[in-house]
Amino acid sequence: MHKIAVLGGDGTGPEVVREGLKVLEAASHKLGFKYETVDYDWGGDRYLRTGEILPPTAIDEMKKFDAIYLGAIGHPDVKPGILEKGILLYLRFGLDQYINLRPVKLYPGVETPLKDKGPADIDYVVVRENTEGLYTGAGGVLKKGTADEVAVQESINTRKGVERCIRYAFAYAQKRNKDKKLTLCGKTNVLTYAFDLWERAFYEVAKDYPDITTDYAHVDATTMWMVKNPEWFDVIVTDNMFGDIITDLGAMTQGGMGIAAGGNINPEGVSMFEPIGGSAPKYTGMNVINPLAAIGAVQMMLETLGETKAAELIDKAIAYVTGSKLKSMSAGKMGFTTTEVGDMVAQFVADA
Ligand code: IPM
Ligand code: MN
Repeated sequence: MHKIAVLGGDGTGPEVVREGLKVLEAASHKLGFKYETVDYDWGGDRYLRTGEILPPTAIDEMKKFDAIYLGAIGHPDVKPGILEKGILLYLRFGLDQYINLRPVKLYPGVETPLKDKGPADIDYVVVRENTEGLYTGAGGVLKKGTADEVAVQESINTRKGVERCIRYAFAYAQKRNKDKKLTLCGKTNVLTYAFDLWERAFYEVAKDYPDITTDYAHVDATTMWMVKNPEWFDVIVTDNMFGDIITDLGAMTQGGMGIAAGGNINPEGVSMFEPIGGSAPKYTGMNVINPLAAIGAVQMMLETLGETKAAELIDKAIAYVTGSKLKSMSAGKMGFTTTEVGDMVAQFVADA
C-alpha cells in the first residue's frame, strides 16, 4: 500500500492534480497496486485565511508518507518568496530531498522551438542538486536602504552534499542505460572554489563507474548545446541554481511548462513530485490548463515507488495523447479541456 500525501496547492494546481490522480486510479485498477491519498490544503489561500504558512508539524507529518504529490505553490495576493520559501523550499530542505530530477523529453507530436530536432534528439535528464548552493539563504545584508548597502548571497557547497548528488547521477546514468554518459555542468573557469570541489568529487566518483563516459561543460556552453545539439546529452548533473535555470530552458525545448515534470527526491526518504510549471493563476478554474506535466509527475512518482509497469504505461499514454490528440501543449490551445486530456490518458491506461 503506497501512502501518498496530496498537496494541490495554489492556482491551477488542484485542477491538474485531479487529472493526475485520475490517471493514478486508472493505473492502479489496471495493474493491481494499492494506494491511499490524504489531502492537505497548504498554500496561499490557507495562508491568507490563517496567517500560518505551514503547521509546525508539517515535516513530521510528511515523513509518514511514501511520496508527496504537489500541484503548484504561488498566489497572486501573497508577496513573491513567502510561499515559495515557506512551503516548496521548506519541504525540499526539511525532507532532505537532495535531488531534483528533471527529464527533458520531447514527446511525439509536440512542437519544439528547436529547428530540425525531434523526440530522438531531445531526451535527457537533468540531476539538479536540491538542498545547497545559492538556495540555503546564507549571506546577509548591511546598511540596507542606504547608498552603502551591501548584499551577500553565498553559494554553499559541502563535500557530502556535492558527492551524494554526483553519486546519484552516475547511478542514474547507469540505470537509464541510454548513452551511459554523464555531463557535469559547472563554471570551473570562474567559480574556482565551488566547482573545483564539484570537479574533484565528479572525477573521484567516476572511478566507481567505469562504464559511464564523463563529460564536462560550463553552464553557458551547456545552454548553447541544449539548443544546438541536445542529442549530445544523456544525463546532466549540476548545482541548484544552474539546475534551476537550465531546466526552464529544457522545459521550453520539450514543448513548454504544460508538459515538464520533476521529482524532488530523497533516495533514503520521502520524495515529492510536481509539474514544474507553477500555479498559473490567470487560468484558475477555467479547465484549460495542460495536465500532462502533472500526469508526468505521477509517472515519475510511480517509477520511484517501484511501480515500473505502471510508470511505463503512463509514459506510453502520454505519448499517445501528444502524438495523436493534442493540437498544442499550451493552456487554452490544446483543442481539449483539462478534464478531457486527463480522461484520454486514463482511458488509454484502462484499455491497454
Ligand atoms: C523551481 C522553481 C523554484 C526554484 C522556486 C519557485 C523557488 O523555480 O522549482 O524550479 O527556484 O527551485
Ligand atoms: Mn525554476
